[in-house]
Amino acid sequence: MVLLGDMGTGKTSLVLRFVKGQFYDFQESTIGAAFFSQVLSINEATVKFDIWDTAGQERILSFEPKNGFKNSRDKEKKIVNSIHPTNCGSYVIRGNPNLVMVLVANKIDLEIKREVDVEEGARYAQDNGMFFIETSAKTAHNVNELFYEIGDFIEEV
Ligand code: GTP
Repeated sequence: MVLLGDMGTGKTSLVLRFVKGQFYDFQESTIGAAFFSQVLSINEATVKFDIWDTAGQERILSFEPKNGFKNSRDKEKKIVNSIHPTNCGSYVIRGNPNLVMVLVANKIDLEIKREVDVEEGARYAQDNGMFFIETSAKTAHNVNELFYEIGDFIEEV
């Protein structure tokens, strides 16, 4: 599993919540990438997650002009376009029909600062062949569900 997303969106926090049950209000920014591993028992199967937590995407998509993104939402679209299975010109991951993509809307506890409503998020995910889930690494809302859903899907195929 590779976590992609803008700086500060909570990628490390989601993994730490899942793997260690921890959350830090002042989580340090990831430099380069960090690796985590976690095993889940799903139905009769054991699923081992090897998780690469990347630094904020500008550093990954460093070929992009600095002013290419207006906000986090634009950045997500740029990432999705670059990894989408139908995009053979991908810079990040070459097209792979077995790729499971999940659009995660984190920090759902900060409802008052919401910029994208749930319908728009779900529609965008559906249009791009992704699962959609809203999470909070802070409250742990839907964090285990996120990983169980993916494990469940992998276990079925
Ligand atoms: P980079 O490593 O810079 O790419 O950032 P990141 O995407 O890994 O984000 P990180 O986990 O470092 O979290 C950034 C900040 O957001 C930290 O201060 C976290 O405490 C905070 N944060 C992460 N998830 C949540 C959440 O669900 N709710 C709230 N309120 N804050 C969160």
